Amino acid sequence: MGNAAATPVLSARGLRKEYGKGEGLVRAVGGVDLDVGAGETVAIMGPSGCGKSTLLHLLGGLDRPSGGEVLLNGRRIDNTSENALARMRRTDVSYVFQSFHLMEELTAVENVELSALLAGRSPQAARRRAEELLDRLGLVGRSRFLPSALSGGQRQRVAVARALSNEPLVVLADEPTGNLDSAATLDVLHLFKDLHESGQTLVIVTHDARIAATADRMFSMRDGVLVDETRPTGAPGRLGALIGLED
Ligand SMILES: Nc1ncnc2c1ncn2[C@@H]1O[C@H](COP(=O)(O)OP(=O)(O)OP(=O)(O)O)[C@@H](O)[C@H]1O
Ligand SMILES: [Mg+2]
Repeated sequence: MGNAAATPVLSARGLRKEYGKGEGLVRAVGGVDLDVGAGETVAIMGPSGCGKSTLLHLLGGLDRPSGGEVLLNGRRIDNTSENALARMRRTDVSYVFQSFHLMEELTAVENVELSALLAGRSPQAARRRAEELLDRLGLVGRSRFLPSALSGGQRQRVAVARALSNEPLVVLADEPTGNLDSAATLDVLHLFKDLHESGQTLVIVTHDARIAATADRMFSMRDGVLVDETRPTGAPGRLGALIGLED
């Protein structure tokens, strides 16, 4: 308690998730302790099936743990009511998925403003913020396009704009470049770098070492646990040189 400034935005304590039982029991997450501070970017890397998505779902309140605790700004969310959890997902936590999950029948700006509307913003404020975010993410002139008329990188930028439109405490991204070609990946890489620099708290699951290199801390996950923590040397300023991008 006491020092509010030191309270992590997101914490996990002994977090576990098992699926099935008996012979079929799968220990997807097997005891994770993690603190993510305000403005910090944390990357999680690890082989397929090691539990990364499951962990992210638990951290975002999309799924209930089998054991342990999740705290958002110091408050337990793992044992809270469905209603409180739903509210928390609308207002405090945003998700970016590998496959974008945009609503195909809504335009870019409608997709983006939706999460601000769900978080309780007025239609005018939601639209203003959505247009601002799309501009900021380099989608000027695309706000009235349907997702089908956008490239993969543009769709993912719309998905990130949507994730930001409710001004969440933390953005959780699960393989945000998993479905993108290399040009679009660089696009999204720049975007996460900018978000990091703007002070957004971020947890990114990624197979892409370049994305992980933008993080303050990087964890390796194996068989449901975080086994290794490193501080990537690719601080934002050096990253461009490191991966051959001009800044
Ligand atoms: N709903 C479920 N029911 C049963 N088992 C599940 C379920 N969801 C995940 N699992 C199992 O939990 C383990 C971890 O899965 P998870 O999706 O978290 O892995 P991941 O690290 O995200 O993998 P990938 O890199 O392929 O996305 C896997 O063995 C998976 O089969
Ligand atoms: Mg996954």
